[in-house]
Amino acid sequence: MLKNPSENIIAKNSLHAQELRSAQIHWDSEGQPFSEDFNDVYFNTDSGIDESRFVYINPSRLQERWQQHQGSFTLLETGFGTGLNFILTWLEWIEFQANTDHQQDHQQQRFQEKSNHLHYISIEKFPLNKDQIAQALSLFPQLKHLTDQLTAQYPLLIKGFHSLQFKDEHLTLTLIFDDVSTALPMLNGPIDAWYLDGFAPAKNPDMWTDTLYSSMAQLSKENTSVATFTAAGDVRRSLSAAGFKLNKVSGFGMKREMMHGTFNQGQGPLNSPFNSLKPWLKPNIEPIENVAIIGAGIAGCTTAYALARRGIAVTIIDKHGIATEASGNPQGAMYAKLAAGEATHSDIYVQGYLQSLRWLHQHLDAGDGWDNCGLIQLASTEKEALRQQKFIANTDYPTQLLHSIDQEQASAISGVTMNSGGLFFPEAGWVSPQRLCQELVKHPLITLEKAHIKDLIEFKAANSYSHVVIACANQSQELLNDCYLPTKSIRGQLTYLDQNSVNTQLSSINLKTVLCGKGYIAPAHQGKFCLGASYNIKDTETKMRLSDHQKNFNYLDDFGEEFQQLNHQLQAQAAKNFPGRTGFRCTTPDYLPMAGPLIDEQAFDHDFTAIRKNLARYPRHAVKFHSGMYVNIGHGSRGLTSAPLCAELIAAYICGENFPIAKGHAEALLPARFYIREMVRNKR
Ligand SMILES: Cc1cc2nc3c(=O)[nH]c(=O)nc-3n(C[C@H](O)[C@H](O)[C@H](O)COP(=O)(O)OP(=O)(O)OC[C@H]3O[C@@H](n4cnc5c(N)ncnc54)[C@H](O)[C@@H]3O)c2cc1C
Ligand SMILES: C[S@@+](CC[C@H](N)C(=O)[O-])C[C@H]1O[C@@H](n2cnc3c(N)ncnc32)[C@H](O)[C@@H]1O
Repeated sequence: MLKNPSENIIAKNSLHAQELRSAQIHWDSEGQPFSEDFNDVYFNTDSGIDESRFVYINPSRLQERWQQHQGSFTLLETGFGTGLNFILTWLEWIEFQANTDHQQDHQQQRFQEKSNHLHYISIEKFPLNKDQIAQALSLFPQLKHLTDQLTAQYPLLIKGFHSLQFKDEHLTLTLIFDDVSTALPMLNGPIDAWYLDGFAPAKNPDMWTDTLYSSMAQLSKENTSVATFTAAGDVRRSLSAAGFKLNKVSGFGMKREMMHGTFNQGQGPLNSPFNSLKPWLKPNIEPIENVAIIGAGIAGCTTAYALARRGIAVTIIDKHGIATEASGNPQGAMYAKLAAGEATHSDIYVQGYLQSLRWLHQHLDAGDGWDNCGLIQLASTEKEALRQQKFIANTDYPTQLLHSIDQEQASAISGVTMNSGGLFFPEAGWVSPQRLCQELVKHPLITLEKAHIKDLIEFKAANSYSHVVIACANQSQELLNDCYLPTKSIRGQLTYLDQNSVNTQLSSINLKTVLCGKGYIAPAHQGKFCLGASYNIKDTETKMRLSDHQKNFNYLDDFGEEFQQLNHQLQAQAAKNFPGRTGFRCTTPDYLPMAGPLIDEQAFDHDFTAIRKNLARYPRHAVKFHSGMYVNIGHGSRGLTSAPLCAELIAAYICGENFPIAKGHAEALLPARFYIREMVRNKR
């Protein structure tokens, strides 16, 4: 999938981020990976599988606990290494699912009674790259069917969260490339089982710190398990002090002892799970019976799929049908528009972009509704060129994500004579959101209904939905009069150009990548080019206008000589009715989507009035939420990049799981953020 997976890239992902250092591996004479940093082996080929089961999987009593656990089960490993523990736990999960399916094949019932989803979180400070993972795991050919799926999705070495979903497996792997002590405080919890791996405390004292133990206590709940290969006295004392009741037992092979145990609040400091979380990130976890999603655009359909993948039945309700409004565009540019100095925006959009790419690879064949033909963000003005230079100088993303190209390279890559260089995203491209939505709603747990919902309270009362997700873009406010959702509607018009038009030179243009300047154009699909898109604030006109087509033609000037000539030719045909379509973007004041639970603002105003004086002194008591109500809106001009990630976030909220993103990022996406900001500024 990735065009140059062998590149061993080291990257920092935001202006403030430290470098991510990749693993320094040496392969011994038996082909086993050996860590040069820690002077230790990752595993032993002869006994690695048995050891992993003996030390981690069996003492965690996974099969037995999965039978009893309701909803999503979260396991956290320190040190992903080669991924062997993950693959073996996955095998265990497959066995559990096969047994459960055998006993009971109604997925919805299973959701309520047993574990329906495994969330495996693994933190790795010195990640191996994709090729190294493949090489290491090739020592276990019997696991190939799973290691191939892991390596197909294994992320670029970019610091931060990478949430990987495995189709039809009810399994999420969240890889966090960071130090354990930095990553754990970014999680929202709770964790059901810990695998404490990470080289021996004597060789790796930096990992076995007080931050590790205190974070573990904050993220654990009663009977959360811990399993570790070490029985070192310091580790035992620290885990006990943090609240874990431990057993020291015989170790694997030549190792004398190891430990496992459970979190027991009675014996350690009083900790409740989530106690480090701001109250507005802690909606009540309500039993899930049936979920309704209002709106069948990309936000609604991706959310439906994220829930259905966890075994939850979902009904999508739309007044028109699947993806007919903003998500009905035939081609949209899918990439991350990154801003130097905006670490939160950039982190979220990079993560969203990588998430969308994984979803697209998983759900659509290239050429069928999308094409990862690459995308050039052109430096077509002096201001944009300076912005890009500053961005490249201040960040250090892997070249597979993006890199700077000059005019000549841009021409060679795009197939047209460019006037400028820009930023090249080799894996990006164009997407038909409608095609993706059509594919996602094929999930057997998703049902579609056509209806225009006018009154949400009435709708909720008349139906037995335990949860409702509002994904109606700009029209959400009509359903949620008593919530402050400051979205702005921005009209956009697309122009379709016939590739074989005899009146222009279009048929001679062989565009190979998506080009983005002030507007964008994608390679021709099904005989037409899609050129977009005008940007009109406070404009509600649904009919197409010639003046907007002309605006779009002017965008062609950014795309090099052939397209400049085309602009002249098209402007000369001004009397013609050009085909195209109009749509409305739904933007927010800070250009990030709104994805999360809905707080009861009146109650919040009353209970949290203290934040007007000092936000940091927020009361610690619970926030009142509108029971089971969530929104996923505000995707602006970048819905193809942000929707799948926000969908996974909403599913995590509803299922009481760890978020697929850092909790600080979840807070940046919280729909109530604007209300909270206004309170702090005393505007409310
Ligand atoms: C011209 C244009 C060009 C764009 N280009 C790009 C691009 O290149 N790249 C990119 O990433 N993004 C692009 N976007 C943005 C992208 O299309 C949106 O971010 C995305 O489609 C938003 O999806 P959504 O599901 O939130 O909203 P929508 O797709 O608008 O879906 C909302 C749905 O809610 C339904 N609905 C509303 N009210 C009700 C109700 N009361 N009852 C029942 N159903 C209801 C509607 O029928 C609709 O289907 C563009 C947008 C426009 C307009
Ligand atoms: C023995 S290996 C893990 C093996 C792995 N669980 C597997 O299944 O292959 C230990 C891992 O811990 C990682 N590690 C060491 N210190 C760390 C830290 N402070 N934060 C995160 N990861 C760390 C190492 O880079 C290494 O990959």
